[in-house]
Amino acid sequence: MMDKTWTLSYDFFKPELEWRREALTSTGNGYLTTRGAMEWAEASEAHYPGTYMHGGYNRVGSIIGGRPISNEDLVNLPNWTSMKLKIEGGEPFSMDSVEILSYRHEFDISCALMTREILFRDSQGRETNLRTRRFMSMQRMHLGAIEWEITPKNWSGNVEVISALDGRIINWGVHMYRPFECKHLRPVKTEAMGEDGISLLVTTSQSRIFFASAARTFVYQGDQELKVMRSTHMQDDYIHQAITIPVQQGKTVRVEKMVHLFSSKDKAISEPLMNAQIHAKRVCSFDTALTRSRNAWKQIWAVCDIRIPKHDEAQMLVRFNTCHLLMCCSPNTGDLDAAAPARGLTGEHYNGRMFWDEMYIYPFLNYRFPEVTRGMMMYRYRRLDEARERAREAGYEGAMYPWQSGSDGREETYLMNFNRRDKKWYPDQSFRQRHVNAAIFYNMWQYFQATRDVDFMWNHGARLMLEIARFFASITVYNKERDKYEIHGVMGPDEYHENFEDGSGEHGVRNNAYTNVMVSWMFSRANEVMNLFPAKRRSRLFALLDFSEEELAKWQEMSRKMFIPLHKDGIISQFEGYETLKELDWDAYRAKYKNLYRLDFILKAEGDLADHYKLSKQADTLMLFYLFSETELREMFSNLGFEYSADQMKKTIQYYFDRCSHCSTLSLVVHAAVVGNAYPEKSWDMLMKSLKADVDDVQGGSTGEGIHLGVMSGTLDLVSRGFLGMEARGNVLHFAPKPLPQLDGMTCRMVWRNTPIKLELNDGALTVCIEDGESGQPLTVSVFGHTQELQVGDCVTFAKAGADRKKAA
Ligand code: BGC
Repeated sequence: MMDKTWTLSYDFFKPELEWRREALTSTGNGYLTTRGAMEWAEASEAHYPGTYMHGGYNRVGSIIGGRPISNEDLVNLPNWTSMKLKIEGGEPFSMDSVEILSYRHEFDISCALMTREILFRDSQGRETNLRTRRFMSMQRMHLGAIEWEITPKNWSGNVEVISALDGRIINWGVHMYRPFECKHLRPVKTEAMGEDGISLLVTTSQSRIFFASAARTFVYQGDQELKVMRSTHMQDDYIHQAITIPVQQGKTVRVEKMVHLFSSKDKAISEPLMNAQIHAKRVCSFDTALTRSRNAWKQIWAVCDIRIPKHDEAQMLVRFNTCHLLMCCSPNTGDLDAAAPARGLTGEHYNGRMFWDEMYIYPFLNYRFPEVTRGMMMYRYRRLDEARERAREAGYEGAMYPWQSGSDGREETYLMNFNRRDKKWYPDQSFRQRHVNAAIFYNMWQYFQATRDVDFMWNHGARLMLEIARFFASITVYNKERDKYEIHGVMGPDEYHENFEDGSGEHGVRNNAYTNVMVSWMFSRANEVMNLFPAKRRSRLFALLDFSEEELAKWQEMSRKMFIPLHKDGIISQFEGYETLKELDWDAYRAKYKNLYRLDFILKAEGDLADHYKLSKQADTLMLFYLFSETELREMFSNLGFEYSADQMKKTIQYYFDRCSHCSTLSLVVHAAVVGNAYPEKSWDMLMKSLKADVDDVQGGSTGEGIHLGVMSGTLDLVSRGFLGMEARGNVLHFAPKPLPQLDGMTCRMVWRNTPIKLELNDGALTVCIEDGESGQPLTVSVFGHTQELQVGDCVTFAKAGADRKKAA
């Protein structure tokens, strides 16, 4: 019986929804992901086959409006899934060439297995059932597998199955990018392998990544392999094998296509085509490969499954989002030169680039697979020199990471933005989002809190963090009158505000509160980072980075003197001058426009600008309340010379809550977390909305071009950080669960500093166990303010009123 908490399914076909469903039912393993397009489909407005690999970038030039633009894309790789079905005397099967009698499209979340089952009648009245299954192996990351079961219902005869590797692929997956040059692949070689094998080698035109696929296709009836007629066709960029199969009424024939995929970026290979072919020779059956992949997934779910027994819908969505996170960032990923593209590996939107979204993506992984986040943070470390050069070229010190990052870490952000409403191009200031650097710093610190991995800090983390802090120190300006440090010309996470029109002609805004508070926090943390090392190591690092105790001391002073703009009534101003902006008539805009997601485009098309209004695209100031606990915020504000008043903070939260369009899906997660204490029910509604952001495609068409990995992962973080109130501070793991009836009975597992922990929420009480037989050590937890040391094997239930210690069962 299908378990609906592990399944996403559709029982009708609708061409206009198919792109979205393809992205959602992608199959991946943290190395490579393939969209859930029908095997026989070619790119069209209804279908978009796509396969993407971490780091598979290529740069090409385009002429847009007479201007040359160099653009890097995450390349859509050759289509390894391509298969066609032809019933003797008929047309090749497609959804519109037959009458569909029944249809089911299913995604098994437990192992990212996609199934389609279609019963159809062709123009000659022949009824046939086709069941297709597909997955990328979690256990063997280079293996993709497809199984077709063909059952003629009322006829016997011959079918032809064409099993192909198609290198004639272009990047066509984002409507907005279609004016750009989209051809990235060049053919290198096609080759037949033995009787049942075909292989293809292509390369990217500029980055010269070689990509090989080697497929073998087998035909079975029951356990019996059938002898079938095969003929091979090959051309430079495409190869197929046409297989003629005799079929009998009521009897099922099974076709298995097992494909090995390698690239020249892989480790432990000689040459991708050769290695793909060697692996193809050793291939096992579809079922064996699926069992092995399932086993690898089971190991992953053992630590990643968050159980929500009282709410099936939330349960399914939490698992679905976890699955998507793992298809992009799995134990296979840690060893690659990979980070987390904003749309995962499920589509071409944002060209596979990295933004600040890692801040939402890494926390869940930090407490399950820290070695994966560690590996992915190396993506940033390897680009430290590029970030240093960028800072230097811009006249700053330290390291300035780009807002959008791709292959080599240069700034990839477009300088112009196309407004679909008035069809005009506008200058884009989003590269001014220097806060991406704070996110990288914060991620490293969070990783360290979860692991206490001093080695990582010594070898990589500290260098990068100090260089980022140094960059921020160099962009601050001292305002003598105020005796404060300021930062000008930046953009906060709210991308609606590009400029503040005060007549100065300056781009960006001044003193974005989020950025400035983060900078103050980083300056304080830099000291703690350096304190991790004994004196000799500390001075070696100082020498290596040409850094001094004076510089560090100066940052401490700056940390206390960052300027934080406030409204007259004490509400934190998103940036200096925000209070003077106009109020938007939200009701009028809501009545006039179907959705307000791109309020900035709406206003521009009206000849106005979002810059003029008190509104935001997504959480900006409120990010602070998401990233830090009340205790930390109190410390941070007191360091800045403010008294933290709960009432004032509540007002600040309400103020921005009322003025946000949530145009970025990330916003929902943050708002759900920050309203959690005061309004748990509202918070739950927002969690549900954010859980469904992609499944329901709330942005109207965006999911088809790739799922939003940030919000999907953010929902998982929201459950632990937001609802369990989890926070690692010093050497204590804190919890402050919110009283949400929907979460009653929830269980999850995590690993803190090598110690596996199990958590269970019942009637508002939290049980914390350190499981026996694992690698655990005693640890100190604090729940509802009650602090206790737990030994390995202990299970302690913390009721709100006090701690009630019980022995492990
Ligand atoms: C958001 C950014 C985000 C980017 C990629 C944008 O729409 O405003 O905050 O980093 O999408 O997800």
